[in-house]
Amino acid sequence: MAKYQLPLLKDFKKKEGDKTTALIILKNNRGMQVALTNYGARIVSLIVPDKDGNLVDVVLGFNTISDYLQADEPYHGATIGRYANRISRGAFALDGHEYHVAPNNGPNALHGGNQGFHTKIWDRRLNNPNQVTFYYTSPDGEEGFPGQLTVSVDYILTDNNELQISYRAKSDKDTIINLTNHAYFNLNGEGTGTIVDHVVELAADAFLPIDAVQIPLGEVRSVIGTPFDFREPKRISADIAKEDEQLKRGGYGYDHTFVLTKNNADKNPVVASAYAEKSGIKLQLLTTEPGIQFYTGNALTGKDIGKTGNHYSRQDAFCFETQHFPDAPNQPQFPSTLLKAEQAFQSQTIYRFNVLK
Ligand code: BGC
Repeated sequence: MAKYQLPLLKDFKKKEGDKTTALIILKNNRGMQVALTNYGARIVSLIVPDKDGNLVDVVLGFNTISDYLQADEPYHGATIGRYANRISRGAFALDGHEYHVAPNNGPNALHGGNQGFHTKIWDRRLNNPNQVTFYYTSPDGEEGFPGQLTVSVDYILTDNNELQISYRAKSDKDTIINLTNHAYFNLNGEGTGTIVDHVVELAADAFLPIDAVQIPLGEVRSVIGTPFDFREPKRISADIAKEDEQLKRGGYGYDHTFVLTKNNADKNPVVASAYAEKSGIKLQLLTTEPGIQFYTGNALTGKDIGKTGNHYSRQDAFCFETQHFPDAPNQPQFPSTLLKAEQAFQSQTIYRFNVLK
């Protein structure tokens, strides 16, 4: 098997106040490697074998911490919180109070506000060569959210080529929470161009249609007869360019929550998969979450230049963001994102890699 050296990742040390950013590398006994940084508790590189045994980096990202700090797209690989996805007008009510998160996406709050978890320098503990835990304490009122929230994210790389991500949190007041990871995948390797040739399968009979500013309409719509039907494996390109009001609202592509029909308590718990023929790499997802935001990178501008010197342009990557539903605090028919004071929050997502020959 070819040896991938992570040669490009270099400058990840930066001091800010009493915190320092760093690069952490996890390894397993199958040649898989995961590079992470505590800046945003994020995935920097995910290196997996392809069908010829060469190692391929399947997530977009940068070689230095300053590239992350200056990036056009701030969410690459990051832990997103306190509330992943959108809250309409950034406003929600809880226990008789109105709370406001600053709008940072048109009229809405996206991904936890301007200084969400992706901008924080997390504490860390490297438990062993294949496991790291990141910790962060978010003060009461941070970005407008109630309660002091302590949160941790565990990344465990197993010898089955699975990256297991476990989130835990607790708040001292009632609050809301929705955590995810924003890795941008390209299973032919980051920087190799479009992902529309990838074959995707989603265990979802329904999706959440959105309004003109990407807030769910409240309806749970069947995928049958729509471009949103991925119940059988389908190339992303099959329907993505079709004339369709929902695709248009997603930025002429997919940027929608799919309602999962199973979770990882299921017998066959795989909720989503993607496969790239050229590399033979297949990604499968397992999760405890009720939804997945399937996003085809419609807003990547081409301004960011990634690890191997290539521009990251529109639809050069996709995201599988496991999560509760957008705007759930204002849409009581959706699964609740309320976290009661002193109750334990837990959520898990697994990325599993295989090769098909
Ligand atoms: C959202 C997109 C948004 C992107 C920002 C995704 O989670 O669904 O609408 O443009 O994050 O990186």
